[in-house]
Amino acid sequence: MSQPQTAETQMSENTTPDMKDIVALCKRRGFVFPASEIYGGINGFWDYGPLGVELKNNLRDLWWKQMVTTPPIGPDGQPVQIVGLDSSIIQNPKTWEASGHVGGFSDPMVDCKATKLRYRQDHLIVLTSDKADRWPAFHEEAEDSEISKKLKKLGMPSDIGLFEKVNLTELDVSTYAKIVGPDVNDPGTLTEPKQFNLMFHTFVGANATEADKAYLRPETAQGIFLNYKNVLDSSRVKVPFGIAQIGKAFRNEVTPRNFIFRSREFEQMEMEWFCHPDEVEKWRDFWFEERTKFWKSIGLQSDNLIMRKHGDDELSHYAKAGLGTSDIEYRFPFTAPGYGELEGIAHRCDFDLTQHQEHSKQKLEYMDPQTQEKFIPHVIEPAAGLTRGVLALICEAYTPDPNRPSGVYLNFHPSIAPKKAAILPLTAKDDHVPLATKIYMDLREHYAVDLDIKQNIGKRYARQDEIGTPFCFTVDDQSNEDGTVTVRHRNTMKQDRIAIDTIRDYMEKEMALMAG
Ligand code: GAP
Repeated sequence: MSQPQTAETQMSENTTPDMKDIVALCKRRGFVFPASEIYGGINGFWDYGPLGVELKNNLRDLWWKQMVTTPPIGPDGQPVQIVGLDSSIIQNPKTWEASGHVGGFSDPMVDCKATKLRYRQDHLIVLTSDKADRWPAFHEEAEDSEISKKLKKLGMPSDIGLFEKVNLTELDVSTYAKIVGPDVNDPGTLTEPKQFNLMFHTFVGANATEADKAYLRPETAQGIFLNYKNVLDSSRVKVPFGIAQIGKAFRNEVTPRNFIFRSREFEQMEMEWFCHPDEVEKWRDFWFEERTKFWKSIGLQSDNLIMRKHGDDELSHYAKAGLGTSDIEYRFPFTAPGYGELEGIAHRCDFDLTQHQEHSKQKLEYMDPQTQEKFIPHVIEPAAGLTRGVLALICEAYTPDPNRPSGVYLNFHPSIAPKKAAILPLTAKDDHVPLATKIYMDLREHYAVDLDIKQNIGKRYARQDEIGTPFCFTVDDQSNEDGTVTVRHRNTMKQDRIAIDTIRDYMEKEMALMAG
C-alpha cells in the first residue's frame, strides 16, 4: 500500500484542489451553507455551520490574542500597546462622507442591454484583433477551453493565439460596439461604464426619507477613527498605539464570487496603528513582518503566501500620498497559479483623522506629553478578512488522499482545528460508552472535543478526517481491562495504544510537534 499523501507531497505534486470539492465538503460536514438555502439562497451571503463557526472563532481568537491580549514585542524590546473596540455597524452617515465612501467607494460597471446582467468593468477580458469585427468578452477567470468553445459558437477561429487579451478598462468606449458580451452572441449590447456605490443603505427610524438614510459599514476601520479620541481620553495609551476591532462589514459587491472569498456580508479583523509621521516606514515594515508570521504560525505554508505592493493605479483614496499598500496574498485554488488578497497593510497617512476633524469640527490632534509637539498621527493599518482567512485555512488544509475511505482529510493546524480530538466507543454497547463518556467529560474541560457514538468505526474515522480532527481515541474491550485506548493520528492514520491517564500529555506533546 502506498503511503498516505501528506500536505508536503500534495504541494510537491502541485495538485490544486478543486473548489467544487471544497464547497461540497464544507456543506456536507457543516462548515459553510448558502444563506437562505431553502428559499433558493441569496447571492453573496453565507451561513457558518456548527464547525465553520468554531473554525472562524478560533481564527478570530488567535488574531485577538496576537493583537490585544499578548501584542507583539516592538522594536524597543517592549510589548506594543493595542486596545480593543467593538463599534456600531451603523454610524452617523456623515462618517461616510468624511471617509470618502459616499463619494468614492464604487466600482465601474457595465450593463448588458440584452440580458440585463451587470459586470464589473475591470473583471472582463476582451479578445481583440485588428482582423475581427467582433471582439468576444469573458469573465476574467474563464478558462481557455471555455473561450475556445464560445469562439466556435460565434463562428470565429477558435485559436486564442490569434487574439490579444485585453482588460475592458483598457478599451475606449467607442470600441464597445464591436464587443460581444459574456452572455450574448451579438455585439453592441454593453453600456458605457457607470460608477456603482458599494455601500448598503437603510433608513433609521420610522420615516424613510432621504434625511433618515444611513449606511451599513463597508469597513470596521471607521468606527476606530471615530473612537480614537475616546480611547485616548479613557485609557493609558500613548502614541504609538493601536486600536483593534473584529466585526461584520457589508459591501454590495457587483460580482460576489468564489465561495466566501468575495461576499456581500463578511467579517474583518482590522487594527489601526497610530504613530508619528516620521516613523511610518519602521512600523509598516514591523507590521508586515508580524502579520506574515501570524498567517504562517496557523498553518499557511510560505510558498502559498506572497507579499505584493499595490501599483499606483490600485491605490485607495487614503493611501495615495503615503507609502501605499502592500498585500499579503494567498494562492487560492481559483487564483492558482496566481494569488488573491488575504490582508492589506496600508499607510492611511493622516487622511481619516484629518477628514473627521474637518467634518466634525472636533480637534483630533495628539500632543506628545514629553516634547509637547502637536500632530495628527499617521496610521498603518493591517486589515485582514476573517471570513476570507477561513477560506484560506480550509483550502490549505484540504488534502486529497485516495488511501483512506473519505478520500480526503483536512490537515488543519491544531490551533485552528474546530475539534482537537474525538472520543469513539468502538461499539454503542454499554461496555464501551460509559468509559468513553468519562474520558470525554474530562477532556472537554481542556479542549474542544467530540464524543461520537453513531455509525461503524470506519465511517466515524472518515468523518473526523473530513472535519480535520487531529486525534481519535477509541475505547474497546481492552480499555476496560487495562485502562488504555487506541489513538489514531489524522495525518498518518497510524494507530498506537496509550494509557487513558496520559491522553492529555499525549495531545499536548503531539499538537506541539504538529505545530512545528
Ligand atoms: N479598512 C481597509 C479595508 O477595508 P480592504 O482591502 O477593502 O481594506 C480588507 O479590506 C480585507 O477585508 C481584505 O484584504 C479581504 O481579506 C477582506 N475583504 C474585503 N472585501 C471582502 C469581501 N467582499 N468579502 C470577503 N472579504 C473581503
